[in-house]
Amino acid sequence: MDARDELSIGQVAERSGFTASAVRYYESEGLLESSRDAGGRRRFRRTVLRRLAFIRAASNVGCSLQEIREELDRLPSGRTPNKADWHRISRHWRARLDERIEALEKLRDGLDSCIGCGCLSLGTCRMSNPRDAAASDARAPGAAFLPTALRREDGFHSSATV
Ligand code: FES
Repeated sequence: MDARDELSIGQVAERSGFTASAVRYYESEGLLESSRDAGGRRRFRRTVLRRLAFIRAASNVGCSLQEIREELDRLPSGRTPNKADWHRISRHWRARLDERIEALEKLRDGLDSCIGCGCLSLGTCRMSNPRDAAASDARAPGAAFLPTALRREDGFHSSATV
């Protein structure tokens, strides 16, 4: 491996904005790979920076570590992922992101109307959810009128630590 393409964990942390412990954590979770130099110190390929940027971006849209791992597993190991590799991920990722975008728009635009949660506290509830009819909706319990992505029990919060 060309020395210019090799980074120490300190250089990776500095350039990526992650802590060294977070880099080690993601490596222990199999999301990153490193080699060891003669002194046993980790050496990372420079391409690890794109993986870390992807991890952060995915975490910021609420993807779990498992979801991130599934996507990164699509990348070839042992060689630098090229544009086609990343394009394959973005194509697969698009459906997942579109669902989240729809959910976020609904959250942004929908909270001032009835969401079918059973509170019956808004004027619109009388029309949209008379006598809490939503309670027997297949999408209940919870806010039956919100998109699936906003009703998941595990929510948006990723388990990844940054
Ligand atoms: S907003 Fe809660 S039931 Fe309508």
